[in-house]
Amino acid sequence: IDAALADGPLKGKHILVTSGPTHEPIDPVRYIANRSSGAQGTAIATALAALGADVTFVAGPADIAPPAGVRVVPVETAAQMLEAVQTALPADAAVFAAAVADWHVANASDSKIKKDASGLPELSFAENPDILATVSQMKTGRPGLIVGFAAETNDVIANATAKRLRKGCDWIVANDVSPETGIMGGSENAVTLISDDGAEDWPRMGKDAVATKLAARIAQVLVG
Ligand code: CTP
Ligand code: CA
Repeated sequence: IDAALADGPLKGKHILVTSGPTHEPIDPVRYIANRSSGAQGTAIATALAALGADVTFVAGPADIAPPAGVRVVPVETAAQMLEAVQTALPADAAVFAAAVADWHVANASDSKIKKDASGLPELSFAENPDILATVSQMKTGRPGLIVGFAAETNDVIANATAKRLRKGCDWIVANDVSPETGIMGGSENAVTLISDDGAEDWPRMGKDAVATKLAARIAQVLVG
């Protein structure tokens, strides 16, 4: 890590960032997943590291290269992501930008399912652990500032506000990912920051700019 960067305002602060999708196996060659490029999470980790934070970056499988100068923990499934997050704690702050699959395949097969076997496969699903909620509701050792994301296609603010209260995180970064916004898979984001103080609309800007602004806000809270 560049010495000048390591001397930024977040020097000595450990910040955990989750990013990317998770892959939940159906069999050794197939999986279910959420759409996620990992771009926003990667940009946030980069921005935090640029302010001098010691960043643990827990990353699901994505094509984007992880940032330099952070501790990268690659994972595949939601269960592995939860375990990696718990191992990485304690942290001063945590940003949960990953698009975690809500379910895993309960009857995943150890061997490749063949299409000529006995008709169509029947998949059954089981719910994944909610990593953000689990960490937000920790009785001891909870990070002082926890930031979640809410990608919604309708009733964005109402859904995200309810999500913040349900999970118990401090902030939610909400965005509208309806196909017509072009945000999914794009380089820009238009977010609303929801906290105890209410909802603050940020103008549409590059994902890197969202990350820089969010990192600055986090630094304000952690170091005043
Ligand atoms: N999240 C998580 N673990 C999960 C699911 C979600 O940590 N198993 C986190 C995401 O990283 C994000 C936030 O929770 O920061 C909101 O994710 P989202 O999918 O919008 O919330 P859900 O509670 O899964 O609700 P929905 O039914 O809308 O998918
Ligand atoms: Ca979800």
